[in-house]
Amino acid sequence: KRLVVLVSGSGTNLQALLDEIAATGTEAYGAAVVAVGADRDGIEGLARAERAGLPTFVCRVKDYETRDEWDAALAEAVSAHEPDLVVSAGFMKIVGKEFLARFGGRFVNTHPALLPSFPGAHGVRDALAYGAKVTGCTVHFVDDGVDTGPIIAQGVVEVRDEDDESALHERIKEVERRLLVEVVGRLARNGHRIEGRKVVIQ
Ligand code: GRF
Repeated sequence: KRLVVLVSGSGTNLQALLDEIAATGTEAYGAAVVAVGADRDGIEGLARAERAGLPTFVCRVKDYETRDEWDAALAEAVSAHEPDLVVSAGFMKIVGKEFLARFGGRFVNTHPALLPSFPGAHGVRDALAYGAKVTGCTVHFVDDGVDTGPIIAQGVVEVRDEDDESALHERIKEVERRLLVEVVGRLARNGHRIEGRKVVIQ
């Protein structure tokens, strides 16, 4: 299977995928990352892709007249690499109708909280502020909401009294990286179907 990964930041989830595939081999893992896209330049996630010799593309909202034009351009840029599966690994933009029309049902996102709790761009900060005793991460299919799509897998992380946002996020990311690598591999090696909110991986 061909994966396109979308990033917006440090790209440690992308790196975990690249490392796993390098270690197990494309055949055994069932997929190869064929390109990495971002919504901004100059981020470590793109540098990681370049170090791995992968094609990259940047699709910036401000380069387009409207949000829909950006969405269509992103869908085009991703389509050019003919992915079987698109993975949002810390991609901080909400895609629109065109993107979902093309990739809905095979577009996976990872979120650093236990959805439906704490959706949105500050899931770690919100869980901490709320006083949650456990939080974690969720890998889910993207639908037309924000972090509302059918859940594939979740991992639990305890919140410690001394945690600040970055300490807690680092601990979440340790679980998240492993969860994403495991889920993407399973999806790549097996078919899947989505029945309402239920995800069935053969
Ligand atoms: C991840 O925790 C992701 O869930 C969140 O931002 C973080 C991205 O980390 N949206 P990285 O760019 O993969 O290091």
